[in-house]
Parts: sequence; C-alpha cells; structure tokens
Amino acid sequence: MKTNLFTIGLGGVIGNEEDGPFIGKERLLTLEETLRMAEVSLRKNSKEGKTGCGWMRLPYEDIGPIGSVAEKIVGFDSIVQVGIGGSALGNLMLNDAFLHPYHNELSRKERKVPRFYMADNPDPKGLSAIWDCIDPERTAFIVVSKSGSTAETITLFLWFFEALSERLGPEKALSRFVFITDPEKGILRVLAEKGALASLPVPADVGGRFSVLSAVGLLSAMGLGLPVSELLEGARLMDDHIKKARGIWENPAWLLAALHFLHFVQGRHMTVTMPYSDGLERFAEWHAQLWGESLGKGGKGSTPIRALGAIDQHSQVQLYVDGPDDKLFTLIDVKKKEPELHIPSVEMEEMSPVFYLGGHTFSDLLTVEAQSTAAALMKAGKPVIWMEIPCLDGIRLGALIFLYEMVTALTGHLLQVDPFDQPGVEQGKRYTYGLMGRAGFGSDAAEASEGFGKVLGIALSV
Ligand code: PA5
Repeated sequence: MKTNLFTIGLGGVIGNEEDGPFIGKERLLTLEETLRMAEVSLRKNSKEGKTGCGWMRLPYEDIGPIGSVAEKIVGFDSIVQVGIGGSALGNLMLNDAFLHPYHNELSRKERKVPRFYMADNPDPKGLSAIWDCIDPERTAFIVVSKSGSTAETITLFLWFFEALSERLGPEKALSRFVFITDPEKGILRVLAEKGALASLPVPADVGGRFSVLSAVGLLSAMGLGLPVSELLEGARLMDDHIKKARGIWENPAWLLAALHFLHFVQGRHMTVTMPYSDGLERFAEWHAQLWGESLGKGGKGSTPIRALGAIDQHSQVQLYVDGPDDKLFTLIDVKKKEPELHIPSVEMEEMSPVFYLGGHTFSDLLTVEAQSTAAALMKAGKPVIWMEIPCLDGIRLGALIFLYEMVTALTGHLLQVDPFDQPGVEQGKRYTYGLMGRAGFGSDAAEASEGFGKVLGIALSV
C-alpha cells in the first residue's frame, strides 16, 4: 500500500512570461542531468565514507546501541542535553514535533518519560535556570560535541560537572554523563572511557547539522519516547522515492534544489520557511542552520528565514507580500492538526458578526490562513512552494528531514560550494579559543583583537 507522504504545489514558482517571476520549465529541465549526476556522486561518496556524506546511510543503521543507552536514561527524572548548533537543533525539532508543548510541566504520570532541558547557549541566566529546575541527583546529562572542543559545549559541561561533583563527588558525577562524540578522538572521548554512564559515536563522516538521525538526535528522542522507528522509516521512504524518480517532476529533491538555485540566480537571496503548525516551528529553525551553514560560502547562498504561521502574518507578511521581490517562500500546511478542536458556535446576538467562524475547526482556520497567505503572495507576484502534509507524524517528519538534507546537498552542488564544510564557523571558533587563552591559538587571538579593534564605539552616557 502506498503512503501519501505529502504534496508539493508550485504557486507562481515557475511563472509565465506575462507576470511574476519567470523560471520556465525549460530552465528546470536543463538542470536535470546535472542533478542526476550530483545525486549519483553523493550516493557513491556516502558508500565510500567521504567526509560529510554519511547522513544518507543513517536511516538504515542499527539503532540497537542507541536504544540500550536510552534504557539507562529513561528512569531519570530529567535529561539535560549539552550541545550547540547541529548538536542541539535536531533534538529541539523532534521534541517540538512530538512532545507536549508544556512537557516539563506535566506530572511524571502524565508525561511517563523524563523532563528535558537543552543547554546550548552559554548564557549564565539560562544555565542557572536549568539548575534551578532539576533535581541534580536524579538527572542524566547528555553531552554532544563531535569535535569535543566547542567552547560553548565544553564550558557548559564543566559547569554542570563541577556543580554535580560538589553534590556527589567527581566519580559518581561522571557516572551521570553520556558522551556523544567522535568515535576515537577528543577530550570527551577520554572522559567517556573513564567511568561515564555511557558513550555513543557521532559517525566520522556525518557533520553536525546532518546528524539528527544519528545518536545525536536519536538518543534523547528514544529516552523521551518519540517515534524513532517511524522517523527512520519516513526517511527511508523518501530516499526510496528519490532513488526511483525518473525525472525532475517526480523527484522532489531535484525540483526543490533546482527552484532554489534558479530563484537565487534571479536575485531572490532569501528563502522563507513558514510552517502553519507549532510542531514545525523548530523544523524551520533546524532547516535554517542546515541551509545557512551548508550553502553560505564564497559569496553565495540564500539566507534562510524562519517564520511561523499564523503569528508572522501579523509581523512579517506585510513585508513578504509588499516588500522587495528577493525571497522564495515555502509554506507548509499540516492538514490534520491534533487535537481536533472546534470554534464554538454562539447564539448571543451581540456576537453575530463572528457567527461565520462557529463550527469550523482550529485546524481548518490555520489551513485557510496558510492558503490566504499563499494567495496574497502569489497575487503580488511572489513565488510560493506549497507543502501539504496529511498529518505531523514520525513518517512525515522523517521524510521531510531526509528530503531537505538532499535538497541542501544538491543545491550546494548547483551553487558549486561544498555543503559539508563550515569554514566561517571554524574561524569564529578559533578566534574564541584564542581570545579565551587556548594554547596554540595566539595568532588567532591577535587577528581577532585587531579585527574587533576596528569596531567604532559610540558611548551613550546620560
Ligand atoms: O553543523 C555543524 O558542524 C556545526 O553546527 C556543529 O554542529 C556545531 O558547531 C557544534 O560542533 P561540535 O558538535 O563539534 O561541538
């Protein structure tokens, strides 16, 4: 039996010559062969374990070892994950899609699984707030860092470790930590071998922002009872669909990569992802990192913008509709939103102007709002990709994840940039190491100081 994953609609994206942006079917078709070759080469690189290409293998991996570690953490009262960027955003996306929005406020009986806190930004306010909320003695800490050296993650880890050591002593404290890091190198690997609760590898050929379907994203997901098997099945279904597609009209990854590339070339240097579902708000955030960090290179790459329907209708849509034609829009509608809640039909005469709303579901309202935004954008000649998802479940989210990873990798090929490196991020990391006094990074510190010294300060004293 066939599974309807989702439908992709093109709203003025290809255009006609009279009005709106014009791409034309012919231009899309000219990219078909390039995309076919790019996909073949990605798959070959993945099989050969080439840097960055391991994500294609993840939906097929044995998750047994991750499940065994999840069993060790599920009995704790809380889980704190320490990580940043690709070591955090995938987890937040999965939680947003599947956990109760106020998960941590539910009783243990209601939520059945531990509370979850993400420590990603090393802001003392957020850090101490997490400590205030947890019972440290009944908390498991998952530290995720592929490199094992990211300053934000290491400092957060050191803080939690010291605070916990003061309560339990260093040995017992360490036994509350799970490390997800490089399989062989880095300081976290050393600690992992010294009496940690457990450790799992970040596969060497998988980059942070492509790692959500590895232990990085799946350990907390399993510990929190999220539909991990369905996620992986959805990713495999999408992979299969892409593999079997015979041309650009059947292959959503080729189509979306080609459209993003051609609109970028036409000067649409921003790409807006706007789901009409709270459960996909963090998907837009995850996608923003995937897209921005993978493609922003050598003066190229469209800027990802995350928006949320209907909230941004009352914030950004004026600009989107009536502002400059420099954006490609992806609107995502989830057809069946849970729970099904109806807008009450009231009989008070004073309320007669709003009688028309009564009886509809809130789900219908959001869908209509999404359609209205799409129509308004198209009327203004702005290009819209319309994604319609029957419901937000593991299968659909897994399929979306795999699809957008493939679209990102293929768009990188069209833009002729390496989607799997991040020299700009590494530069910032080196400056931070240098300025914080790490040995061997003296010249980075000097360069950063010199660069920052050019900032013009204007003192505002009153
Ligand atoms: O995608 C990436 O490579 C980055 O966003 C990393 O995930 C992020 O910088 C954190 O790096 P690490 O996992 O090495 O601590």
